[in-house]
Amino acid sequence: MGSYITYRAPKHNEKAPENIFLTTLVNKMKILIATEKPFAKVAVEGIRKEIEAAGYELALLEKYTSKQQLLDAVSDADALIIRSDLVDAEVFDAAKKLKIVVRAGAGYDNIDLVAATSHGVVAMNTPGQNSNAVAELALGMMVYAVRNFYNGTSGTELKGKTLGIHAFGNVGRNVARIAKGFGMNVLAYDAYCPDEAMTAAGVTPVHSAEELYEKSDIVSLHIPATPETKQSINYALLSRMPKGALLVNTARKEVINEEELICLMSERPDFKYVTDIMPASDMKMHELFEERYFSTPKKMGAQTAEANINAGIAAAKQIVDFFTTGNTRYKVN
Ligand code: 3PG
Repeated sequence: MGSYITYRAPKHNEKAPENIFLTTLVNKMKILIATEKPFAKVAVEGIRKEIEAAGYELALLEKYTSKQQLLDAVSDADALIIRSDLVDAEVFDAAKKLKIVVRAGAGYDNIDLVAATSHGVVAMNTPGQNSNAVAELALGMMVYAVRNFYNGTSGTELKGKTLGIHAFGNVGRNVARIAKGFGMNVLAYDAYCPDEAMTAAGVTPVHSAEELYEKSDIVSLHIPATPETKQSINYALLSRMPKGALLVNTARKEVINEEELICLMSERPDFKYVTDIMPASDMKMHELFEERYFSTPKKMGAQTAEANINAGIAAAKQIVDFFTTGNTRYKVN
């Protein structure tokens, strides 16, 4: 936090020490948006308004195809806004002036937090800002799967089915709200969420992942990718699901043990898998499970104008707030 005072722009009516004012005039702060998968244009314009109103300069690197482009672009950036873009030690090494990186979204497993800290960079996310978009996609994918991928054959309905929500965070809560509208019976498992929060949302808490999978016709994954959760959705867990089971993944591919999922689906012709994060074995799964596997070509849960506006502008505001007041509320490192 030591460096923010040096770069802080003077607030309206505030008399800044002369040397600070000169620094900001001569060296306008540069905020870089680096998004391999761009925000909607309207969101970029919203971010630009926030950044320019604060007296900073906005730089844009979209749809980049090589890491070198990112390394070049960050070299003079004071702040960085990203999505699922990989920000590792090499990026921090190249970003000599960087003080803050904000992941416009929920999951920050794409940021090397140890490297961020060792480079004195604050890392933040924007929790909750894109969760409705992801939840809507999860329900959309459920309908798509239970209607047999719109192949013209007779499917089933969501009404009356039991949905198991694995992790009751911002996305899980939105999934519950929408699923209840469909008339589903909603269960949730989250070791970090008190039962009362679930019951208040009209959701039945269960107390182990095993119980959740045993009792649910459909499981929707909303766990982050952490050392504890990686590969945790495995054969032992999935084989507990009842006949006609459906697994919906709008979380992260890393949480799935793909080899064991393939093994289970080979043994269980009734089991379907739909995912918004293309598995490493996408080709193989298409070949093996043509009628009961689907992946979006590119993660699109948060790919709505609304989510881009919410998360992008929240990121911009957090950066301005950090530089002007030192606020680190959403710091994750
Ligand atoms: C998130 O963690 O916020 C979601 O996975 C969305 O990621 P995206 O911004 O790369 O679409």
